[in-house]
Amino acid sequence: MIGEKLLHGGDYNPEQWLESQDILEEDIRLMKQAHINCVTLGVFSWSMLEPEEGAYDFQWLKDIIDRLYREGICVILATPSGAMPHWLSQKYPEVMQVHADGKRNLPGKRHNFCYTSPVMREKIRQLDEKLSECFGSHPAVVLWHISNEFGGNFGDSSCHCELCQKEFREWLKKRYGTLDALNHAWWNRFWSHVYTDWDQIHSPMPHGEALSHGLNLDWKRFVTERMMDFCSHEIQAVRTHSSLPVTANFMDFFKGLDYGKFQECLNLVSWDSYPFWHSSRDQVPEAVRAAANHSLMRSLKKQPFLLMESTPSCVNWKAHNPLKRPGMHMLSSMQAVAHGSDSVQYFQWRKSRGAFEKFHGAVLDHKNGADTRTYREVSEVGERLERLTNAVEGSVNRPRAAIVFDWENWWALEDSAGPRLEWDYVGEILKHYQVFWEAGVEVDFVHMGQELDGYALVLAPLNYLYRQGYAEKVRQYTAKGGIYVTTYFSGIVDDTDLCFLRHHPLEDVLGIVQEEIDAPGEEYENSISYQGTEYPVGGIREVIHPKEDTKVLAVYKEDFYAGMPVVTAHPYKEGTAWYLAAEMDLKFLRQWYKELCVQAELYNALGAELPYGVTVTQRQGGEDPVFVMNFSEKPVILMPQGEWEDVDTKERIFDRFTLEAYSCRVLKKK
Ligand code: GAL
Repeated sequence: MIGEKLLHGGDYNPEQWLESQDILEEDIRLMKQAHINCVTLGVFSWSMLEPEEGAYDFQWLKDIIDRLYREGICVILATPSGAMPHWLSQKYPEVMQVHADGKRNLPGKRHNFCYTSPVMREKIRQLDEKLSECFGSHPAVVLWHISNEFGGNFGDSSCHCELCQKEFREWLKKRYGTLDALNHAWWNRFWSHVYTDWDQIHSPMPHGEALSHGLNLDWKRFVTERMMDFCSHEIQAVRTHSSLPVTANFMDFFKGLDYGKFQECLNLVSWDSYPFWHSSRDQVPEAVRAAANHSLMRSLKKQPFLLMESTPSCVNWKAHNPLKRPGMHMLSSMQAVAHGSDSVQYFQWRKSRGAFEKFHGAVLDHKNGADTRTYREVSEVGERLERLTNAVEGSVNRPRAAIVFDWENWWALEDSAGPRLEWDYVGEILKHYQVFWEAGVEVDFVHMGQELDGYALVLAPLNYLYRQGYAEKVRQYTAKGGIYVTTYFSGIVDDTDLCFLRHHPLEDVLGIVQEEIDAPGEEYENSISYQGTEYPVGGIREVIHPKEDTKVLAVYKEDFYAGMPVVTAHPYKEGTAWYLAAEMDLKFLRQWYKELCVQAELYNALGAELPYGVTVTQRQGGEDPVFVMNFSEKPVILMPQGEWEDVDTKERIFDRFTLEAYSCRVLKKK
């Protein structure tokens, strides 16, 4: 934990209010009243910190930081590269990103700089070093926040300018050594695409080469490394006079950057969470997605993370923007802590008066000061976080189950042009995650470079691409007694997207032989019978053959492959490998994983049956707190095993307790 407390606060943009001293004073007074102990400053302040090239003005920021310090509020200090001042783009247009269609951005908006541009790098270095010198050892400042949502330019994180093309070619030279090796890895004799000169290579572009899977994959790897390189450049600059830890705020299942790799240059992971609460009456899909994101962020370093942004009421950028219903703000804030966050931070403290985000939710609205429902609910969260500090201190979730989630697999799978043109990797992952969420069994996400040891159960849905060394890791894991589960369309290509020849790399472990894969039209219904219940089979159906010692637990009912296996289990040394040959629905997965959880001895911490909408997760350490959350609109009664105490109310719980609609209780074992 930073400063031995759970952080509560958020983005604060006082530069928008410098002429209104009364507002700045009210800010501090109301922050204290709302139990705010941490704000993030400077995220988009470049034009106020350096109004003209080389002319810096830090006094306003210093006054604010000093004042916050006097009031016991700590500061996360951002570097302002997320948005560029107009003088910069006017004088040096090359700092602007070039899109895949070859067009250079015009000035404005944000998150749209070229991460290679030497001018951009030099200008931000100078500013960051000055910030470091001025504030790097200020006692109020606890953490550096590098830039903002790297790559968050409406989904396209890459710059295609000539400088980036050059860097890409250099990167490829390092990776492949020779053009022959590259041509082989990308299978370039196909459509006569053999390169004979490095300068013939271009980034993927809609009106140029866009269908070379090897190129697409390497470009995405390069973009991640280039962005990391830019981030590291900024880290180096803020470190010139400061040894504070650094973070960068990540986004919801963001495909543009491999966060599994990106986190390596940061000391701690943080992210911005904006679920679409109340988009329908059933909050479970959003709760599952938010929980999965929290689990993912925690898993990147297997350490507590920070919830860097969330809205206290609504956002302003979805098709329609519902308010959080009473209780939902507390519940969604507790949800983050439940899955490993050491903070609840908002975007933002005070609503801007003008411009694009003037209707985005904030702790303080344009009117009514502290006299609003949002402000009261925020204050309650702050109070509760203070109460929970001891229970949570030093703790983090330590799940015994893991789901393989890997960016390289995501990129390659959705580009595969395989049995299906459009895959939804995250959707499939969430389907599997949901079953565990409903059972109150926390999972980690691991990418293929991470260790599997220590997990009783590892699931790898749609694990199409195998990174180097991965198959061997799974072999060892299963041999030592692990339960490994994987599905159709797994183990198909290597890390340059070339298909494996002759055998599935894990054929010996899985005990099956893949032969064909079918994706028929909807009228070709099919089903399986599993443990006496009939389940429909979805649109992807693999035709597989079991090996001699493989147990077949369910078979196709229809079509020319009727009687062939859909669910198999294969003993491998001390462990077992399960295979699911067809796309199956949530109902089937619930039943199937129930059985696997028993085998792996995975139960929720309360040992209770959980109704739909309710989940449980535990952090290990501190007082081993158990968070019990109800995302349904109705109160529920739960019957836990053993004796518990409610950390907030001190109430003793023996055999049953009520959990109100949209609420979270934090319990500890007596
Ligand atoms: C985030 C961003 C913030 C703010 C917020 C609004 O993505 O980092 O600056 O724009 O969205 O929801």
